[in-house]
Amino acid sequence: MSSDLLTSALADIAADVDRGFDLLLPVPDDGRARLYEAMRHAAIGGGKRLRPLLVVAASRLFNVGLESALNVGLAIECIHVYSLVHDDLPCMDDDDMRRGKPTVHKAFDEATAVLAGDSLHALAFEILADEETHPDPFVRAELIAELARASGPSGMAGGQMMDLAASDADFDLHSVTRLQQLKTGALISFCLEAGAILGRVPPEGRQGLRGYARDIGLAFQIADDVIDAEGDAAVAGKAVNKDAEAGKATFLSLLGIDRAKAQMHMLVEQAIAHLHTFGEEADLLRAIARYTVERDR
Ligand code: IPE
Ligand code: IPE
Ligand code: MG
Ligand code: MG
Ligand code: MG
Repeated sequence: MSSDLLTSALADIAADVDRGFDLLLPVPDDGRARLYEAMRHAAIGGGKRLRPLLVVAASRLFNVGLESALNVGLAIECIHVYSLVHDDLPCMDDDDMRRGKPTVHKAFDEATAVLAGDSLHALAFEILADEETHPDPFVRAELIAELARASGPSGMAGGQMMDLAASDADFDLHSVTRLQQLKTGALISFCLEAGAILGRVPPEGRQGLRGYARDIGLAFQIADDVIDAEGDAAVAGKAVNKDAEAGKATFLSLLGIDRAKAQMHMLVEQAIAHLHTFGEEADLLRAIARYTVERDR
């Protein structure tokens, strides 16, 4: 039952996100065509669309309109995709495959990949500032402020900076937890927070969702590290065995694979427990929590 719910939700969000990006990114007939082609290569087709799905699932708790949720989902996916395009660059992880396709700098070139990332970053905020996303400018401003914080030095970019150093420095569990919370957790937390913002839930009503977000964010990154250690590149759509090769400090390198997996499953149960005040309207969030660690890509 809950797996049917998830399967159809994943298929719906994949189609909605692809359609949204197709409409947002028509290729102009001028010197920018290559930039738009690169953005489309990165944004359309492939990817689990987990972050947009989280926005939709959280919005469902508060009867938010689907159009608003989908627009915010497109905005967070823009940031996520931009982070992947830059993460794959030779100056960072130097990867050739992403979502089963050549990375943007391989399919195009490095300069185009940098600009495609920059442009997706900007597009995210343009979407959030649009009246179609929400009629209330205060709601739009809160979404913009939260996404900015989750993306920048206090969020994803800050975590990526720490991740670069994680190869060399002597990282302990506390530092790796903080690194992962910034690198991956901040954008995932935004998705749940966005549902509450769109639903005009006061901050004191957001605690359960924040706990859920923190726990699935960490579980999600441990699952990513497990896929890197044990997964299949053809299924994952990206190279595996990169973390150990780079000598990266991760939950796996610190705890060993068995304890890391046990921790990951414990986090999922804890995440679901945070939803205890909600009824069946939170079933999709419960199914997503399990999916974050049961996936093979
Ligand atoms: C991969 O994210 C990068 C991390 C933050 C670990 P996803 O596993 O969500 O990648 P896609 O969007 O499905 O390609
Ligand atoms: C990247 O983490 C997280 C981002 C913020 C892009 P990884 O480097 O582990 O992601 P993959 O394994 O390349 O998808
Ligand atoms: Mg990386
Ligand atoms: Mg990488
Ligand atoms: Mg990884």
